[in-house]
Amino acid sequence: MNAPAGQLNPANLALSRKEDFKAFVDAPRRTQPATLSRDELQALDAKEQAAYNRARREWHANVGPIRTPQLALLHEDLWDIVDSNLQDGDKAKGAVAVDAFPGLGKTTAVLAFARAFHRREIAEHGEFTAQGHERWPVCRVGLTGNTGMKDLNRAMLEFFGHPGRQTSTVAQLGLQALDCVLSCEVRVLILDDLHFLKWRKTSGIEVSNHLKWIANEFPVTLLKVGVGLADKGLFSEGEAVGETVLAQTGRRTTRLDMPPFTIDTDLGRHHWRQLLLALEQRIVLTDKYPGMLADYLSDYLFARSTGHIGSLMTLINRGCQRAQRTGTERLTRDLLDRVRNDEAAEHARRELECALQSGKATSRPRKARATRR
Ligand SMILES: Nc1ncnc2c1ncn2[C@@H]1O[C@H](COP(=O)(O)OP(=O)(O)O)[C@@H](O)[C@H]1O
Ligand SMILES: [Mg+2]
Repeated sequence: MNAPAGQLNPANLALSRKEDFKAFVDAPRRTQPATLSRDELQALDAKEQAAYNRARREWHANVGPIRTPQLALLHEDLWDIVDSNLQDGDKAKGAVAVDAFPGLGKTTAVLAFARAFHRREIAEHGEFTAQGHERWPVCRVGLTGNTGMKDLNRAMLEFFGHPGRQTSTVAQLGLQALDCVLSCEVRVLILDDLHFLKWRKTSGIEVSNHLKWIANEFPVTLLKVGVGLADKGLFSEGEAVGETVLAQTGRRTTRLDMPPFTIDTDLGRHHWRQLLLALEQRIVLTDKYPGMLADYLSDYLFARSTGHIGSLMTLINRGCQRAQRTGTERLTRDLLDRVRNDEAAEHARRELECALQSGKATSRPRKARATRR
């Protein structure tokens, strides 16, 4: 389905400008194509079949976000923190760091939160501020390889489409960004993939100072997202003895995690099963059947993804594309064996498969084990 004329196609969004962000926020949820039977599929003429298959391809490539326990927990914490920060501007706000390995759903969960927060704020306060500026409750910046402080400030200005961005110094850019944040009444500033910020030899003091300046001067909840932020000393109090700068950043930052699924407790296995059941609902293949993932492929999918939602979704997405293209129209171990996954997942898979096959581990909760794999 193409976006209507004049509207941004969601597939082209990088979310680095406010217009893109708004399109993301306002986009209606995709509608799931109907699951046809083999006969119904055969009955379509060539053109209808092509359209149906195209709709399914797009659907499978964009499943989600599913409300996993990890996502739900993160959202609860974010609401707590962001709402308790809506105090008067002169009080320093608590910051948040979502710190976890890649592929665990940080960006997805944070964006889903940003979307909900943006919508709530606009619904409550209107599209324009009292001064007549556009209201932007969320400013979101995604960092890329080796961003410096200047680039970071510039990226914030880019989000607002600010014209002063080409020529200024770090400090000027920072002040201009602050200006945008103030006039658009930004409440949440998201810095995604913050680990890309150049950390330099100064053990991060300069970076830390800059983030502290933002935290102090900008009346926002600073939401830092990244990998290994704790190791960079960003919010570990006491670790860097004598470096009070770091300690201060640490005191006001709450660290939130995004853990992988695990199968070493029955609760963990239950969550894994719920995820697979939710995914089954969203798969549009003519020969899918209840239990296809949750009963018959549970161990297999766990071994191949090691509980990382990113790897799981890649595998399911690619598997569905293949099942559709080849006419298999269901997910089986044979078919998935031929689908490639990311390298980290493949590496971890081999060890885990040994344990699962030898019966030392299982991914299925006790109650569900009565059903044969
Ligand atoms: N709750 C979810 N529901 C469905 N898919 C998800 C969910 N969380 C993550 N994914 C998928 O996993 C992949 C990695 O997620 P992402 O948010 O980019 O992780 P991170 O930012 O931690 O690296 C994405 O392709 C996304 O589609
Ligand atoms: Mg990410």
